[in-house]
Amino acid sequence: MKEKVKELEYTLPYNRYVDLEVFEEEKKKIFFKSWILAGHVSQVEKKGDFFTFDIAGEPLIISRGNDDQLNAFYNICPHRGAKVERSEEGNKKIFMCSYHGWTFHLDGKLNKAPNFRTNDLGDHSCMTPVKLEVYQSLIFINLDSEALPLKDSYKELVGSLDKYTFLESLKKVRVNQRVINANWKAVVDNYLECDHCQIAHPAFSKTFDMKNYNIDLHRNYSCQYSSLTSGNSEEQAQFYWVWPNMMISIYPGSGNMTTSQILPIAPNKSLAIYSYYFPSEHISEEQEELIKFVDQVREEDFELVEMLQEGFHTQAFKQGVYSPSEHALHHFHQRIKEAMDVR
Ligand code: FES
Ligand SMILES: [Fe+2]
Repeated sequence: MKEKVKELEYTLPYNRYVDLEVFEEEKKKIFFKSWILAGHVSQVEKKGDFFTFDIAGEPLIISRGNDDQLNAFYNICPHRGAKVERSEEGNKKIFMCSYHGWTFHLDGKLNKAPNFRTNDLGDHSCMTPVKLEVYQSLIFINLDSEALPLKDSYKELVGSLDKYTFLESLKKVRVNQRVINANWKAVVDNYLECDHCQIAHPAFSKTFDMKNYNIDLHRNYSCQYSSLTSGNSEEQAQFYWVWPNMMISIYPGSGNMTTSQILPIAPNKSLAIYSYYFPSEHISEEQEELIKFVDQVREEDFELVEMLQEGFHTQAFKQGVYSPSEHALHHFHQRIKEAMDVR
């Protein structure tokens, strides 16, 4: 996809990074309508395994049922609205609401409502199901019951990732979480350009060929890629951003992947979940080095993004401008405008 940045084109207005109304609207128009990475099949390997996950304040349970199928449903009791499961993960035969003791099967359907004369409560007896799909062993959720299937929404991306035949068998071996004091879009913006790499990421800039740093744009994703400065120049690192809030990085070397999920908490607060996947749960020295390298780049970014958020709140600053090599940022902002129906 060709999308050039024109002379002095302005970014999204930065009140969209601080405004509560915009934030609430983004939840509805973006986060409750898009496919969102929730987890990995290795978190729910056995029957009864489950984990809980929030998408922009909507609590969910992802579980493996007795029929071996994966289920996803809101973690909200249909009786009076209590949160049913309070732990982050575990293995259960049944879920029980701690308010009046309604119990639910692993697929979210009612087992017993002890204070009612009948269990025949019709539709009003299940925890509300949501769409779930698995691709490359990653579990995606969509809160929109009308949403297109994942592979239809991300046709081109699937075409690109299918070439990594090792992805499906990777295990999730480590997770780091961090609350970032910045709007979720600011975290994505930061990922989408490497103009700041020379200054902010000295180790990264030495490791990768910054003179041949490429960024390709596609309908629902963009991909940055570059070769190592030493060793086999055929091998490239690929950094995917996937609409709206996910990143997938694949580094040269033996099979590996890292994913980032940037989840909105408030206009100026986001939760970042970083997961590392390798072929085996045993992490080698080389893999440990890679984790350290990735973490260091991230640490350098956190500081920058939090500093930006402070700038967004000043009267002095209304909009930024794109450099010609910030075309992936421009592309992301166009996609935001389209989803939010603004110009
Ligand atoms: S709110 Fe869950 S049993 Fe009453
Ligand atoms: Fe960066």
